[in-house]
Order: sequence, then C-alpha cells, then structure tokens
Amino acid sequence: MHSSEQFPIRKNWTYLNNSGIAPMYAPGWEAGSAFEQARAEKGQMAFADFGSVPGSLREAAAELLQTSSENMSFMKNTAEGLSTIAGGYPFEPGDEIISYVHEYPSNHYPYVLQKNRGVVLKLIPDRKMHEGQRDGMPGGFVLEDIEALITDRTRMIGLSHVQFTSGFACDVQELGELCADRGIDLVIDGAQSMGCLPLYPEKWNVSAIAASGWKWMMGPVGTGLLYTSPQFRKKIHQTMAGADLMKQGQDYLNHSWQPYEDGRRFEYSTVPVSLAIALEKCIRDVHLSNGIEKVRDHNWKLQDAFLQKLSNPSIQPVRFENKNRSGILSLIYSEPEKLCAHLKQNGIIVTHRGGYCRIAPHIYNTVEDVERAAEVLNNL
Ligand SMILES: Cc1ncc(COP(=O)(O)O)c(C=O)c1O
Repeated sequence: MHSSEQFPIRKNWTYLNNSGIAPMYAPGWEAGSAFEQARAEKGQMAFADFGSVPGSLREAAAELLQTSSENMSFMKNTAEGLSTIAGGYPFEPGDEIISYVHEYPSNHYPYVLQKNRGVVLKLIPDRKMHEGQRDGMPGGFVLEDIEALITDRTRMIGLSHVQFTSGFACDVQELGELCADRGIDLVIDGAQSMGCLPLYPEKWNVSAIAASGWKWMMGPVGTGLLYTSPQFRKKIHQTMAGADLMKQGQDYLNHSWQPYEDGRRFEYSTVPVSLAIALEKCIRDVHLSNGIEKVRDHNWKLQDAFLQKLSNPSIQPVRFENKNRSGILSLIYSEPEKLCAHLKQNGIIVTHRGGYCRIAPHIYNTVEDVERAAEVLNNL
C-alpha cells in the first residue's frame, strides 16, 4: 500500500515520523473536503448527501477496537478524551490514581487537575529497561512496580499503551486482568498504538481509551477518539454540555435534561463534520481493509529490515520482546538532534524525544525506505 496518489509524502520524502505527526492519507482529505465543498454549494442541504456523521466514524472506529459503536465518541484530541474521563470520574478526597512518571503531557495533566478534588496522583518510577538507557532517559516499568503502589484507595490506573519516548509498550491485557481482580478502572492513552497495534478493550477489560487521529490513524490534525465501556460511562459525570448531547435533538427549546447514554454524550455539541468524514475514510481504507494485525506485522517487518542493515556501532537500537514492542523503534546516539538533522539532509524524516531518536515506519513505507535510512546512518 504505497502509491504516491494515496500517500503524496512519498514523492519527496522518506517519512518515518508516524509517531509524531503522520502525513494525511490523501483520499481521506478528499472525502472530508467534499463535504465543505457541498456545503459551499448547498448550505445545510449538504448534510443529507453524507449519511450519518459522525455515526459512521464511530462504527469504523468501533470495528478497529472490536467493540460496538455506542462505546465510541469523536473527540478533538487525546487530552479532550482523558480530561472528559478524569474530570467526570466520581473521585472522593483521598482516592488515588496511578500513572507513570514520564507520560506525555496530555496523559498527565488531566490527572494532575484532580488534585484540586483531593485526589492523590501516584507516579510509577522509571525502571531501567534496556542496556543503553542513560540517566534521565525514560525506559518503562513492570507489573510489580504498579502493584507496589496499589492500595484500597486506588480507583484508576492511567497509562499510555506505548511510551512516546522509548517505544515501550505495556501489556494491556495483563494490566486489564490486574485491574479486574482489584476493581480498578484502567484508562489507556492509545495515541501511540491505535491504528498501529491491536487494542481490544472489551477482551482486555479496559474502561476507557483516548487517542489522537493524526498519528497512526493518518487522519486530520484536530481529531481524536474516545472509547468508554458501558459500565464505566455510567459512572462519568457530564463536564461539557451543548446542543448535541440531548436525546431531544433539534427540539432546541425543550431544555429538559435527557442526555444520551451512549458515546454521543461526550461529543456534547456541533462536531467538525468534514474531519469526521476524513478520519473515517482513513480508518476504513488504511486499517480495516488491511486488518490491524497485518499493519503491525508490516511495520515490524520494516523495523527488522532496518535493524538488519544498521551497522554503525555508535548507534544502539532499543529492542523489546514482542509483548513490549510497538510501532516506535528508538535509537540511542550521543547527539539525537544531529542524527535527525543528518537524516533530514538526506530526505529522511524522523523525530527525537526524551533523548531517543524514533524510527516509526507505517503501512505506506517499504523495505527500501528503511534500508536507505540505515545506510545513511551507517555513513554518519
Ligand atoms: C502518548 C501520547 N499521548 C498523546 C499524544 C497527543 O496528545 P493530544 O492528542 O492531546 O495532542 C501524544 C503525541 O505525541 C503521545 O505521544
């Protein structure tokens, strides 16, 4: 799947930055912009031509997560999803949330804010997870590190499926079992996994997942998704409100309080329709048509091809066993900025975070792309 019509980025760049901002899947953008074009010509009547939006996006996203569309909500970003959850959760003073010390800000501050309600935020300390990990470089954690922090006041565990720095993936299924045994809600930031790795909240006992649309899903900037299980959703108080969360729909002067019970509750008011159409097209064409396991296997095959070619002894790749492996292959080099700049001079785009340089190929990349990246690094 690598035609430059679908992926115009291929015309000029070898783009391995899908963990940062992925390129927009071009047919997705065409589908989305067709809506605003129709609205330019027909105004409100354009809606009738585009079916149920964002209903059909919720259906596509639900298929990706193997759940039903009632459990999905269309969001602007990961932080909006996590803030909806953290702010609406019925915490009592003294309740505890467990998270990890080096999380991405969108998966940290929504929990920090709960301190205003007397909630205690406990952070899992970092653990050395691989040979090359120097002081200050995030690594990851093991299940025992989490267990050590659990008390009878622990209500929620909030973690990224994949750490944006080292690329460490936690074992969500194992965590889900732990949470089920202890009656704790597991809330996952799926920004670095949804669209790249299998993520099955119903099978794995996950209460909620929030993700961004413009990374591995290849959708528009300013889109995101939220999954909530039905039991968990019932617990969440409404913190955002507007016209579209109520069952009475366009009966706007009926101000009775009748919110939807499904994921529409959290969308609360008018959504960016064109962006929802675009994101749905990306998920259907890129992920559902291939299957998420195939997407993951393709990306891992490319990482393996890269590793096989890489022979520069001053660059150390971070390898995790498969259960902790993700779409991000991090590299350790004394000056990660220089490494990224050198690649860019050669038409190859990657990013550095937390002291690592991240190689993150996706479905539209080829073995030749990653072998070329390795060769450029061998000549550094
Ligand atoms: C783990 C993680 N969560 C969330 C995000 C993005 O958050 P938001 O969608 O709120 O901008 C990123 C972006 O790099 C990320 O790596």
